[in-house]
Amino acid sequence: MENNQTSQPSIKKRKRIIVASVVAVIVVVAGVGMFVWHEQPSFCSAICHTPMDAYYDSYATGETDKYGIPVEEADRTSMTAYLHQSTQGTTCLDCHVPSLSEQIAEGINWVTGDYVVAGNNLKGQTILATRSLDQLGEAREVEGNVFCQNDSCHNLSFEELEAATADLEGRNPHTFAHGEMSCGDCHKAHSQSVNKCGECHGDAPLPDGWLAPQAANAMAEGVLAANSEAA
Ligand code: HEC
Ligand code: HEC
Ligand code: HEC
Repeated sequence: MENNQTSQPSIKKRKRIIVASVVAVIVVVAGVGMFVWHEQPSFCSAICHTPMDAYYDSYATGETDKYGIPVEEADRTSMTAYLHQSTQGTTCLDCHVPSLSEQIAEGINWVTGDYVVAGNNLKGQTILATRSLDQLGEAREVEGNVFCQNDSCHNLSFEELEAATADLEGRNPHTFAHGEMSCGDCHKAHSQSVNKCGECHGDAPLPDGWLAPQAANAMAEGVLAANSEAA
């Protein structure tokens, strides 16, 4: 009797350990799978259709920018996300380097719908308010241009940058004659890039696909205004 009483719980205990181990293995495998999948650009739009589809399209095919505006084939590389994807296979998370706390907060905000949208684009996709490089770097505690200028991405000094565009006809955009600028003032990831010098200088170069700032603003504002009237 006494033997039975002691051996029975121990079988139960062993079973519990086996079940717990199996569950643990499943959780780990699923977790690793999720993690690998979550690194793929398709994850961003597959899970969070709204609000990620517009950004995925401007990255994957470049046929439209985040506003849903069609972009000619020759002009697509002026969208920095498309340029990096098509030339180097850069993923969303190579640029938007995730921090764990940010990912969790984003997940919660997505589930609860707690994020600010700018409106709908021409394709009816939800878009968010445009982020500055400061805002994008906040969660991983990097400021401004470090989003682009860092050891993993563009390890370039300002002198090297200036030299890289010295051959452009007209005013060299990397001659920051009026003080340091944000890379994001000109290089746009999910819409065509703009040459901000052109706000004031008529000789600011516009390589293929680049827009004068006035034209870019008018296009963006036009889309958001048209869609807020419709709503
Ligand atoms: C080459 C770097 C790069 C890649 C790759 C990239 N992004 Fe971005 N992303 C940026 C920058 C820079 C901005 C700031 C706004 C801009 O320039 O368009 C931004 C902004 C955003 C925003 C905020 C809204 C906004 O307009 O500012 C979202 C959402 C976003 N990206 C999602 C994605 C998704 C999803 C992918 C992949 C499918 C992706 N990004 C790939 C650099 C990148
Ligand atoms: C005033 C506008 C402007 C600003 C600000 C700016 N760029 Fe540029 N950048 C340009 C233009 C215009 C080109 C030429 C694009 C082309 O030829 O297609 C360029 C080209 C580049 C290139 C490619 C150079 C090559 O070898 O062809 C890199 C890399 C680059 N920029 C990085 C940066 C980084 C990093 C920053 C921030 C520190 C920055 N840029 C800020 C306008 C700007
Ligand atoms: C908000 C308007 C404005 C913007 C934007 C602007 N500039 Fe200027 N810039 C001026 C004015 C005004 C002068 C003339 C100042 C003077 O004569 O002292 C000037 C003068 C200059 C000069 C020295 C004089 C000359 O014409 O050679 C350089 C170089 C220059 N800018 C380069 C740039 C570059 C490169 C950009 C973009 C990165 C840029 N500027 C963006 C207004 C602007």
